[in-house]
Order: sequence, then C-alpha cells, then structure tokens
Amino acid sequence: MTNHRIALVPGDGIGPEVLPPARQVLDAVGRRHGITFHYTSYDDWSCERHRREGAMMPEDGLDRLRDRDAILLGAVGHPDVPDHVSLWGLLIPIRRGFRQYVNLRPVRVFEGVDSPVRGARAGEVDLVVVRENTEGEYSRAGGRLHRGLPGEKAVQEAVFTRAGVTRVLDYAFGLAAARGGRVTSATKSNGLVHTMPFWDELVAERAAAHPGVPWEKEHIDALAAKFVLEPARYDVVVASNLFGDILSDLAAAVAGSIGIAPAANLNPERAFPSMFEPVHGSAPDIAGRGIANPLGAIGAAALMLDHLGHPAAAKDVTDAVAAVLATSDVRTPDLGGSATTGQFTEKLLTLL
Ligand code: NAI
Ligand code: MG
Repeated sequence: MTNHRIALVPGDGIGPEVLPPARQVLDAVGRRHGITFHYTSYDDWSCERHRREGAMMPEDGLDRLRDRDAILLGAVGHPDVPDHVSLWGLLIPIRRGFRQYVNLRPVRVFEGVDSPVRGARAGEVDLVVVRENTEGEYSRAGGRLHRGLPGEKAVQEAVFTRAGVTRVLDYAFGLAAARGGRVTSATKSNGLVHTMPFWDELVAERAAAHPGVPWEKEHIDALAAKFVLEPARYDVVVASNLFGDILSDLAAAVAGSIGIAPAANLNPERAFPSMFEPVHGSAPDIAGRGIANPLGAIGAAALMLDHLGHPAAAKDVTDAVAAVLATSDVRTPDLGGSATTGQFTEKLLTLL
C-alpha cells in the first residue's frame, strides 16, 4: 500500500466544482492500484479570502504545503478581484516558491470530441507544450511612471537566465527522447533582439547535448498559425512563459474545449511538491450551475499519478476519459451535451 499526502486548493468559481470529481476518480483508481490518498483541503484560499483579509492565502501558506507530496488546484479568479492580484497572490508564489519551472500541457484530440479545426483528427493530434514557468516575460521587473499624466509610461522587463532556460530545455529534450519524438522551439528572435537570440543559442546548445532528438525552431506567430492548420505535425513544443501560455490555450481549443485540458507545474528534482491543475480558469460565467466539465481537473489528477510514480493508474484514468468521450453521449454542455458535472463524473466512474 502506498500513501500520498495531497493538498487540495479548490480556489474560486468552478474550481470547487471540478476538484471533487478529480478526487472521486483518484480514490476509485487508488483502490484498484493499492494507493491511499490523504487529503488536506485549503478551501479558504481564494478571492473571497482576499476580499475579507486582503490576501489570497496566509503568510505561511507555502510552509503549510511544503511537506505534501503534491498539490491539486482548481482555479483562481473572481471578477471583483483584479486578475493579476489573484494570480500573483496564490498561483505564482506556489509555482516560483516550489521551483515548478516546467509547466506541462499535454494536448490530444479525443475520439468523440469535435475539434473546431478541420485538420485535427482524433488519434493524430498528440502533443505536449512545455512552458517555462518561473521567469521570462512574467516578471516583476519594470514599473509605472507618472500615472494619469500625459507622460505616463509602463516598462515591463523580460528576464531570461542561462540556468532557467537550460533546465526547461533539458526537460523538453528528455521528454521528446522518452516519447520518441522531436522538439519544436518557439522563438521570436527577429523581433525580440536580446532575449530570443539568447534562447535560440541555448536551444542549439542543449540540442547538441541530446544528439538523438530531432529539433527545429519556429517563430511564434508562424507557429500559432500552424497549430491551427496542421496540429498533428507537433510533438514536444518548448516555449517561454508567455509564448507557452498562449500556445497551450490555443492547443487546448484545437482539442475541442478548454474544459478538458490538464496542466502540471513540475519541480522535476522533487525537492518541492509539484502542482496539478486544469488549464481553464474559474469560469465565472458558468460557476455555481453545476455544469463545469471536470475532465481538465481529472486529467490533472492523471498527471499527478504519473508524477507520483503510478503510470499504470494514470493510464487507467486517461483511458476512462477517452472511453467516456468515445462511447457515450453523456457529456457537459461545453461538449454539446446536457449532463451535469456530477452525472458526467458518474458515467466516467463506471468506465474506470
Ligand atoms: P476561463 O477558462 O475561466 O473561461 C473561458 C471560457 O471557457 C468561459 O466561457 C468558460 O465558461 C469556459 N470554460 C472554462 N472552463 C470550463 C469547464 N471546465 N467547463 C466548461 N466550460 C469551461 O477563462 P477566463 O474567462 O479568461 O478567466 C476567468 C477567470 O479565471 C479570471 O479571473 C482569470 O484570471 C482566471 N483564470 C485562472 C486560471 C487559473 O487558475 N489557472 C487560468 C485562467 C484564468
Ligand atoms: Mg493561460
């Protein structure tokens, strides 16, 4: 019997609606594979708490999570709290504090899900976006000057370090080697004349250190177009924080619904807990109605199983997800059905 201590951070909006299904799936698959999960739920870490107490989480929040094996997060964000406040108050401190420098977003087109993209057929599109998760364009370096005056200005600096870029590239090349695939690097060295040529040089350097892995680079604008035109071309796509953020949402849309895409924030050295979450946000437009698609959160739970050393259990979950989409028309409204989150989860559990 293996035991794992899991921190649950449901957050805001549909976050608390999609985490219980993920937990049901974990418990069901855990029973079969001899894994027991002990959960601690941090229900209060949210925009609601921010409104009440001025902070998304307590000051010692990271210390409370530190000894967990993994963190499963729902979503954060509420229309009453500026998005940069909620993001920088919870998600980003966890990602940076726990050195979760890889943001991994696998994208598959499942049989039974209609992609809005004509060329995206089930079984053909199977790619992973590896996004740098702790530096790059999402930095606090810079500032605002002369607010409200005609000379007002804002400066936002991107920060790329040799160590930070190298480690995420090594992860991407290692992943491509394990998948028997290849690496595509997203760049923009024609427009961003300092950071992106540096990124490109490091890509060439790390490629040389992984001689068996084919690789290429593409400018982000052309790459975005090709994601729509020929998504099946891609395998492992490595990108900076901003480029990876945009590409992975685009890829999730190509797969048919942002509600089904999972993400992992990994500390590959395992010095700190890693965090698993759906790609989607708190979806205030549908929150409270019990119709959120739980598959993003369930996919995140599968990524967590994989990271915790249970690939067979993870595969059971992704197989059940594929099966429920391929064989049943019980599905949530974002996929054209009329099932509630609970009904859809029950159906999935019968296939697990
Ligand atoms: P969103 O992902 O919350 O919603 C975009 C659209 O997709 C909405 O129409 C929503 O109803 C739909 N959608 C999303 N997840 C769904 C699901 N599971 N089932 C069915 N439909 C789903 O993105 P949006 O609207 O840009 O942001 C809303 C809030 O979420 C903002 O406060 C934003 O900052 C936050 N956010 C948080 C993230 C996180 O916690 N990691 C990621 C993205 C946004
Ligand atoms: Mg995003």
